[in-house]
Amino acid sequence: MNKDSFVLRGGIAFSEGSKSIVTYSNGYVVCVDGICKGAFSKLPDQYKDLPVYDYGDKLIIPGMTDLHVHAPQYTFRGIGMDEELLEWLSKYTFPEEAKYADLAYARKAYEYFSEDLRRCFTTRAVVFATLHNEATIELMDQLEKTGMITYVGKVNMDRNGGVGLEEEDAAASLKATVEWLEAIKGRYKNTMPILTPRFIPSCSDDLMKGLGEMSAERGLRIQSHLSENKSEVAWVKELVPESTSYANAYEIFDTMGSAELPTIMAHCVYSDEEEMRILKEHGAYIAHCADSNMNLTSGIAPIRKFMDAGINIGLGTDVAAGSSMNMIKTMLISLQASKMYYRLVDTNVKPLSFEEMFYLATMGGGSYFGKVGTFKDGYDFDAVVIDDSKMFSMRDMSIRERIERMVYNDADAIITDKYVRGNNIYSNVK
Ligand code: GUN
Ligand code: FE
Repeated sequence: MNKDSFVLRGGIAFSEGSKSIVTYSNGYVVCVDGICKGAFSKLPDQYKDLPVYDYGDKLIIPGMTDLHVHAPQYTFRGIGMDEELLEWLSKYTFPEEAKYADLAYARKAYEYFSEDLRRCFTTRAVVFATLHNEATIELMDQLEKTGMITYVGKVNMDRNGGVGLEEEDAAASLKATVEWLEAIKGRYKNTMPILTPRFIPSCSDDLMKGLGEMSAERGLRIQSHLSENKSEVAWVKELVPESTSYANAYEIFDTMGSAELPTIMAHCVYSDEEEMRILKEHGAYIAHCADSNMNLTSGIAPIRKFMDAGINIGLGTDVAAGSSMNMIKTMLISLQASKMYYRLVDTNVKPLSFEEMFYLATMGGGSYFGKVGTFKDGYDFDAVVIDDSKMFSMRDMSIRERIERMVYNDADAIITDKYVRGNNIYSNVK
């Protein structure tokens, strides 16, 4: 796991912007002290003394960013999928999260989560824990050990959580948050705290306001959920009657963030022109969670409109409403969802191209972490090496075709190595 300077050789693909994927077969991508120095068809002379790790015909792509995933929900993914959001939360999710009061339970479950995250396409993630401080610190300790770079949030919720999953009141929730922040101060290199009001139905006005103030005072980012489901949107209107939209309710509590401290809002299925304007004005990120939106019958988010409006956007797996942490699967469902939005909802809203989806999974979400998500000069060196040799073809395939095929048929794409800021954090060959 030493930070290193080296060259990888193989079939390279990365986004230049949202419209194009650059590829090199038998190309080179250079890492110096954890930073990418660019990708090349011929290795520049200045790097000729660096060690070259030759991956032959394997694919080498930038690491992916999962902008929205719930760690404590990982162990019940793929079951209980017949409910819509609010029923799903109270029937399955809240009772499961309540179990994380037990540190031994949390430790075991978070071991599964952290290890599986280490093995998938994700190199960066923004994670919800539960409201429990000890269990959240346990999760952060484990994620730090993986070598991945993450934001993790102790969840705030002081209402509507049901038995065992509610903090006593706003003051208790804010106090616990400060204690959590104090306990982890200086403890990690790669694991950062993020304030996490679950969503407005879970947080009283005083709690929301307190978190808005804490974000400003301590320079902390915020993550939450926005306009995922119609019953949820109607409920928020009842809870914050003075708001002109759900996004405006977050604005009222000063939790929509700024370009310097961008808030992540997961879902945005029902975000209209006003919400789009608010998201854009605050420099917020939308975590598009298409797998989850399908599973909970939430709807289809109009991500073409968000992209055209210049709103920041990346992909989220949203486990366990999304059933897998595989970003390739999330890309596929997001592509299919955008095609169906065009076909069934509005033929003026064109589906996303494959190039655009690859961009969202890598550079789009990666930009939340800074210069992350591509192989251009100056970006953090996050890379995934993939063996797709089990996917037979009767003809030579271009790198672009192989990447597309991998997304539409993920089963046979095997990750052989994963690098985060130049550290090899996972290898199943060496
Ligand atoms: N809204 C509030 N909490 C949650 C959650 O855990 N999952 C999803 N999908 N939406 C939420
Ligand atoms: Fe979520």
